[in-house]
Amino acid sequence: MKREKAIPSHVAIIMDGNGRWAKQRGKERYEGHLAGVDSVRNVVRAAVRNGVEWLTLYAFSTENWGRPIAEVEAIMQLFCKTVVGEGDELARQGVRVKIMGERTHFSPSVIEMIERIENTTSAGDKLTLVLAFNYSSRREIMLAAQSLAQRVASGEMGVEDINEEALSASLMTANIPDPDFIIRTSGECRLSNFLLWQASYAEFYFPETLWPDFDEEAFDRALEVYAERDRRYGLVTED
Ligand code: FPP
Repeated sequence: MKREKAIPSHVAIIMDGNGRWAKQRGKERYEGHLAGVDSVRNVVRAAVRNGVEWLTLYAFSTENWGRPIAEVEAIMQLFCKTVVGEGDELARQGVRVKIMGERTHFSPSVIEMIERIENTTSAGDKLTLVLAFNYSSRREIMLAAQSLAQRVASGEMGVEDINEEALSASLMTANIPDPDFIIRTSGECRLSNFLLWQASYAEFYFPETLWPDFDEEAFDRALEVYAERDRRYGLVTED
């Protein structure tokens, strides 16, 4: 009997290579990010078409604040404009949007925009699109440790209640399943502070393609790569 192709329930992507894509064309870095938004649209469409249930995109890391101010502002504006402009189309496709990251740095208007898109798309039942924005995994784990310590100190829980489940539930990804498949485009092979705890049993894929060139076909090819993987979770498989 032919085995059904394994589709990852949760795909997480580090969208890398926008700057190099722009440089290769003699353009400003901003134009690379602008072209990267088209890839976001294409990948969301391909994820829905393939029956992927969760798609997490690393859009802005906490470390990205250290980039030149003009680039930071350009990414912020692009992110807000895209998120606001695409709300209806995403809702039409059955996509629910969640923004994951610390909201403390954001202006009231950005926070309002985040809440608006989360509300407009809340009924989406095909794909949950998690946009990691002002996210850093070490900080997420540190904040979870602080919150557990506070709960122990207040007597709400005991030290012995701190287990993997409690820690997972204290992360920003509480209620989000761990990623099955992590893709980083542009040939770089590192995690860069992305989903460090959650990636424990994920499969990894590092295509050379720069993010603005990562289209629906590239996403389909990535799923073919995933389907060939043998996931063992530390166990052994029968031949
Ligand atoms: C990495 O490429 C890309 C980013 C840091 C920004 C990604 C942001 C977007 C695609 C725009 C908004 C996103 C959404 C979800 C609407 P890089 O600049 O590090 O590339 P390089 O390594 O070639 O310099």
